[in-house]
Amino acid sequence: MTPIRLTVNGETIEAAVLPRTHLADFLRDGLGLTGTHLGCEHGVCGACTVRLDGVIVRGCLVLAVQADGGTVETIEGVSDTGEIADLQAGFAAVNALQCGYCTPGMLLTAQDLLLRAPGTVPDRAAIREHLSGNYCRCTGYQSIVDAVEAVASARAARPQTSQSQTSQSQASRPQASRPQASRPQASQP
Ligand code: FES
Ligand code: FES
Repeated sequence: MTPIRLTVNGETIEAAVLPRTHLADFLRDGLGLTGTHLGCEHGVCGACTVRLDGVIVRGCLVLAVQADGGTVETIEGVSDTGEIADLQAGFAAVNALQCGYCTPGMLLTAQDLLLRAPGTVPDRAAIREHLSGNYCRCTGYQSIVDAVEAVASARAARPQTSQSQTSQSQASRPQASRPQASRPQASQP
């Protein structure tokens, strides 16, 4: 067993893990954070998406020991802070989820896109491209793109002060400093 110390959703966690334990299993089985889902477990579906040091990664491709010393944010964390409340409401408003299995990963990936250019509205092709590594077996994607586009438009229409705060939030996001799970380039089914 290998000792690790990391921050998960603002809480310092110390644990001992097998070196082969991947981050998603550690979050789910070790910490009870079952909002991080597992689908394919080999980097294809995006259900396991979490943020590690401000960058979205696939929890099934990152070992828990690689997150040692890092900061992890899961769907539970960003839900509790309210960071993605508008995205969650936007998904619900247009039925952008059915079984919900893909939804935590979709929301974190959509938020990643919207943080990249605060105050702008990505076109639908850009939204589809950014979400192309997250598979959904239920919705056909159309409503998901609708939701992300609507939230992007709403954020862009906010008063400048809010956008400035968002920009500051993005500016404070650390750059990737550790190996990332590669995003598969497979096109959506
Ligand atoms: S479970 Fe990690 S990408 Fe599918
Ligand atoms: S809502 Fe069921 S997989 Fe996306």
